Amino acid sequence: MAVRHLLLLLAIFLVSLAGMTAQGGETWPRVPALMVFGDSLVDVGNNDYITSVVKANSPPYGRDFKDHVATGRFSNGRLLSDIIGEKVGFSGSPPAYLSPQASGQNLLIGANFASAGGGYYDPTAFMYHVISLSKQLEYFKDYTTKLAAVAGSSRAQSIVSNSVYIISAGSTDFGLSYYINPLLFKTLTAAQFSDRLIGIFNKTVTQLYGMGARRIGVFSLPPFGCLPLAITVFGHGSNECVPRLNNDFGRYNMMLSAAVESLSNRHHDLKIVVLDIYKPLYNLATSPEAQGFSEARRACCGTGTVETTVLLCNTKSVGTCSNATTYVFWDSVHPSEAANEVIVDSLNKDINRLVI
Ligand SMILES: *[C@@H]1O[C@H](CO)[C@@H](O)[C@H](O)[C@H]1NC(C)=O
Ligand SMILES: *[C@@H]1O[C@H](CO)[C@@H](O)[C@H](O)[C@H]1NC(C)=O
Repeated sequence: MAVRHLLLLLAIFLVSLAGMTAQGGETWPRVPALMVFGDSLVDVGNNDYITSVVKANSPPYGRDFKDHVATGRFSNGRLLSDIIGEKVGFSGSPPAYLSPQASGQNLLIGANFASAGGGYYDPTAFMYHVISLSKQLEYFKDYTTKLAAVAGSSRAQSIVSNSVYIISAGSTDFGLSYYINPLLFKTLTAAQFSDRLIGIFNKTVTQLYGMGARRIGVFSLPPFGCLPLAITVFGHGSNECVPRLNNDFGRYNMMLSAAVESLSNRHHDLKIVVLDIYKPLYNLATSPEAQGFSEARRACCGTGTVETTVLLCNTKSVGTCSNATTYVFWDSVHPSEAANEVIVDSLNKDINRLVI
């Protein structure tokens, strides 16, 4: 009797164990590793290791993260790329490439090269002393050498070609370069500047493809005109999203989709998709109540009125909200963890297209 009982328990245990390691016959995680490039929407702490003022390494950043640690993530909790990683079966994100954790076996689940303040256009990164996208690609090349030393060259090659690559860039090129630099906005229209960024995007994907990448997800630009900071600086006293900025970003996104389609036609063995973060964040910013949020104009940390420098939110910020779960924005530029979860939920279909 007792033995049968035990066997039954064991059977249940084994079945649930199988459920944890496989989903619908797929191995789990569904890809060997994640490689992440770009800006503060996905930087998990590289800027902690460089000399730049663009850092999120002190409270209240990370307030709702595991162990309440300010890791360098520009949010109260997990970032878009962290949540995407969980969706495809990882229990933690790949380490920031410049951190001491990025070595040995840890390299097997990928690496994160992103740097807050960075973008497609290298001069943006140079201005803020952060890691340019060109430099991020150089680091990726170093990474592949280290990976081969850890995994052996044939396994390393398989990791490189089966991994998901995420690129998030372009917002800072507008927000920290184009809109504030007369040498740019007086000589180029926003459409011409977009064209320049798309050219760099095209070149970046071609380089990654050349190094073996075959599954690439590129973030669209967010609705920049709805960020609390943009409304403060460009809104002329209105409390609504700034249409001019959203038009610029929407136009860029259409150009991005066209470029992605042409890359996909050119390389038949390349899976490349746009991960559209514009629409879900726009919906959150314009009808927060529809999704259980209560505040979309003020950020939880930093009011958006005085934090117009890169120091968006810090230990001394007054009036930081006590619970960010109903705030769309954590600081005046970056979504809260709760908003990030809603955004990634809306990306399910495209993430699946990348990993099958
Ligand atoms: C992308 O680059 C390729 C060659 O490198 C070029 O033929 C193509 O026109 C470019 N596309 C865009 C959208 O810039
Ligand atoms: C914040 O509010 C949510 C729901 O209203 C609740 O589930 C959560 O525990 C709260 N978090 C904190 C840290 O108080």
